[in-house]
Amino acid sequence: MKNRLTIAIQKKGRLFDQSTDLIKKSGINFSTKGDNLLAKSNNLPIDILFVRSDDIPSLVSNGDADLAIVGENVLIEKSLFKRTYIEKIIDLGFSKCRLSFAAPKNNKIKNFNNMKIATSYPNTVKKYLKDNNINASVTNIHGSVELTPYIGMSDIICDLVSSGATLEANNLKEIEVILQSQAVLIKNKNLTKNKEKIADKVISRIQGVVNAIESKYVMLNVDASKVKEICKLLPGSESPTIIPLEDSKKVAIHALCQEPIFWETMEKLKAKGASSILVMPVEKILN
Ligand code: PRP
Repeated sequence: MKNRLTIAIQKKGRLFDQSTDLIKKSGINFSTKGDNLLAKSNNLPIDILFVRSDDIPSLVSNGDADLAIVGENVLIEKSLFKRTYIEKIIDLGFSKCRLSFAAPKNNKIKNFNNMKIATSYPNTVKKYLKDNNINASVTNIHGSVELTPYIGMSDIICDLVSSGATLEANNLKEIEVILQSQAVLIKNKNLTKNKEKIADKVISRIQGVVNAIESKYVMLNVDASKVKEICKLLPGSESPTIIPLEDSKKVAIHALCQEPIFWETMEKLKAKGASSILVMPVEKILN
């Protein structure tokens, strides 16, 4: 494995599907069979390691994995209070969630002083308590955190919230968000020159896929006299292409917009005289 770059991803859980999808869209071909924990790319010198989320930060910090996709919540929890050799490279924009305090719905909480808090994120919670001068006790539990207030193990919990359905199902209410999280690409800081070269290629491709997610290619026709006004309305477009049309008074404008195009923008374009407005998805961008 010395000359092959290793990329660690979660073997199952909320990040798995989008992590494998992102790697495949970056042109790294691999296939997995059943419960295999290692997949070798057949077109690049890259191996994919399927591991537990919790293990990813230490694997990358120790150099056992070179790159990884991990939830920022896990990265922060596992990196607090220790020296690590991890560099965060890209916010990937998926698996967005937050780490929040929550309490039983009937519990009227004024502050967290002297509370018993159950969580799978003890380091993050302890740091928050320290930063906010709160004196409370923290119990580490690896799963079923939502149960702990009902068995007397805690007064409140601190856990991940995404849709809020789990809190709702357990009759809990969110009180305070302490961390916003999403999937991030991380890298070991001390790669060999050879691995650094492969990593650069992978990072630039992943960035290209991420950039493309919100980008749209817009095409429309408009009177030549309106070009400036129309271009001002196209969000995040650098330098649109203006193409003459058969009707010499009209031109076509083609633009790569690196921000979402909402219906409101299209309606404004139409109101300024644009017609045949097409908004198309973009698959990859190499800047
Ligand atoms: C997290 C968290 C909650 C749930 C919240 O668990 O522990 O149980 O997601 O999501 P919701 O707000 O959309 O209901 P996850 O599935 O990530 O697995 P975990 O228990 O291993 O953290």
